[in-house]
Amino acid sequence: MTLAAFIDQAARHLRISTRVAVLTGAGVSKESGVPTFRDALDGLWSQYDPTALATPQAFNANPKLVWDFYEFRRTLMRPARPNAGHEALAAMEQRIADFTLITQNVDDLHEQAGSHNIIRLHGRINANRCSANCLGSPTLIDVESFEWNREQGPPGCPHCGQPVRPDVVWFDEVLPLAALDAAKIAATQAQVMLIIGTSGLVSPAADLPRYAKHEGALLIEINPEPSALTDHVDIWLQGASGEVLPRLLAAMAT
Ligand code: OAD
Repeated sequence: MTLAAFIDQAARHLRISTRVAVLTGAGVSKESGVPTFRDALDGLWSQYDPTALATPQAFNANPKLVWDFYEFRRTLMRPARPNAGHEALAAMEQRIADFTLITQNVDDLHEQAGSHNIIRLHGRINANRCSANCLGSPTLIDVESFEWNREQGPPGCPHCGQPVRPDVVWFDEVLPLAALDAAKIAATQAQVMLIIGTSGLVSPAADLPRYAKHEGALLIEINPEPSALTDHVDIWLQGASGEVLPRLLAAMAT
């Protein structure tokens, strides 16, 4: 079957579905210029060691190194704008009664594109919090609201003095419980789950499609390459999300 035929098949299912969950990963933002993690040539983790930069141990050992890495990623992401894939997902939300977008991404391109019902599993790169969460979890800190020496790494929390850190989930950390619970509910109640631009290698996010399938959902994947989930999906739309999602949206309207 051709990609066009698979898109039509996927669109037929979406057209009659009222409960849809979407799981997105770094691939959905790639066409906006945000690097993925595991692409062999330009993925972040092919150039940097995650254990040295994205764990609580790394931050405790060298807060400046980790802070500077996140400042570098923020600089990379600053010019990024939503691509046609983000926009198609925002438009799809308007057509489907119960539409939940679960993202592993720490950028805010889904929000910028106009998606509303978003569950963030891995936090937001543009937010910061006290590393001790001294006023409760999360104790968000606006680092623009006070003076600090930017040459010396992260500022101290204005409430308790502990270092401020990016409000993202690192390896070896638990996900925000409320977000994970909401994601599990959306997955298990979905008639269709779209899995877009994720390698499916990082749990618990990567377990959500399995929960959905167990409860009878049809799984549709969009990815130019096979992922760890491809063998388990019902329909694989092999292509870039910025190209495939607008075609899928258009096919839903016909
Ligand atoms: P990965 O970098 O592991 O995977 C990106 C996926 O996107 C791959 O399967 C690519 O084939 C696919 N891809 C590439 N270009 C694409 C395009 N144009 N359209 C659609 N798909 C494309 O990223 P994630 O699966 O998101 O965790 O990684 C999961 C987690 O691992 C991240 O959230 C992050 C990372 O460590 C934390 O930071 C906690």
